[in-house]
Amino acid sequence: MDLLEIVGGNRLKGAIKISGAKNAALPILAATIMIDGEIVLRNVPDLADVRQMLVLLDKLGVRSERDETGAIRIQVVDEMNVHAEYELVSKMRASVCVMGPLLAKRRRTQVSMPGGCAIGDRPIGLHVQGLEALGAESELLSGDVLLKAKKLKGDHIFLGGPFGSSVTATANVMMAATLAEGRTVIESAACEPEIIDLANFLNACGARIIGQGTPQITIEGVERLTGAEHRVVADRIEAGTFMVGVAMTNGDVTLEGARLDHLCAVTDCLRRIGVIVESGEKGVVVSSARRLEPVEITTQPYPGFPTDLQAQVMALLSLADGNSVITEKIFPDRFLHVGELSRMGAQLRKEGPTVIVKGVKRLIGAQVMASDLRASAALILAGLAAKGTTQIRRVYHIDRGYERIEEKLAGVGANIRRIKDESGR
Ligand code: EPU
Repeated sequence: MDLLEIVGGNRLKGAIKISGAKNAALPILAATIMIDGEIVLRNVPDLADVRQMLVLLDKLGVRSERDETGAIRIQVVDEMNVHAEYELVSKMRASVCVMGPLLAKRRRTQVSMPGGCAIGDRPIGLHVQGLEALGAESELLSGDVLLKAKKLKGDHIFLGGPFGSSVTATANVMMAATLAEGRTVIESAACEPEIIDLANFLNACGARIIGQGTPQITIEGVERLTGAEHRVVADRIEAGTFMVGVAMTNGDVTLEGARLDHLCAVTDCLRRIGVIVESGEKGVVVSSARRLEPVEITTQPYPGFPTDLQAQVMALLSLADGNSVITEKIFPDRFLHVGELSRMGAQLRKEGPTVIVKGVKRLIGAQVMASDLRASAALILAGLAAKGTTQIRRVYHIDRGYERIEEKLAGVGANIRRIKDESGR
């Protein structure tokens, strides 16, 4: 296992190229199950989760390879297997995105229930409900969800859940509906840019989807989808993570390729904290040179403040001039980073789904443990700003969702290196 060692205190300065979005690439890769002919995907980040999805697709008869330009070329060669097994699904929850495509193209699917994870409960009831509304019959068998349908038929489907819309349930139902007979309307659809990117990809393959990016998506079913080329949208969460890092180190960085229009809530929050965020020729320019103001933040579905940046902003607000309040409204248990940030001197008090953050003058380097992807990112950012050395163990969490993060940070002046962890912890 590797660990990351950071000596804090360096200002981040320069430019970072933002990668393609993990959470757009994963459902787009799953969608290839439904497509006849070759698909060429550009800007797919080279991440553990993407590699994991390619392994799952391979088992499902979908062959892929990266060509010399970095593009992934994909083709379905065998349509027999419909089983996404526990071994793979339990490692990566986004595996559940193969459910809609398998059902639509192969008329049946058996996908292991993902169960919970470090950020809390991860139900899939909305996925199943939506696919049942299209005509599928479902059954639970030894922890797997079995879905089958002789044919799918469009319907008017409500996809809202207790915590708002669901991103991957919207993806699953939208994908399945592209090959259903007639019109499907999804109400309370997720509006995330990753859903827009998936819909744009499907449309390039011949689907007829409108309304993506709004809570009402309409899909007119088509007979078949055929190969196309697509470039995956920039990763707004990676960009947001670096924005917070710049703010924490009083830095000045251009995030090349980042989309300010996908970062509205994040920009609003950072500006209230006192960070300068501007649109530049090559992307988003972020700088900060003064004390940070405390703020109140509540995570919400897009376009609200993303849960995937909650941990990182908690690290930032630990250094603000006063008390901040962070409320998690998507995954109320997504707070494993609280204990680790506290080891670095953050003053945090958790009350239910809310954390009161009392700003401190400085964080202090420590040995900490990564618990999930975004929590690990928060610890890295804290390490960059802290006095002294921070060692972060279990960095495989970070490799799931950030492409070459230590290289990118070192490129803008961070003192960070990956070393072999011999401790076995
Ligand atoms: N929910 C239900 N029933 C369902 C599905 C979800 O009640 O059937 C609830 C969840 O428990 C949660 C809320 O709905 O309270 C939203 O969850 P959602 O389904 O939108 O999450 P997801 O689709 O499983 C995606 C991202 C997550 C991101 C969330 C929220 C992908 C592959 N994953 O997950 O990304 O946190 O949306 O924005 O797109 C990450 O990248 O670190 C990550 C966890």
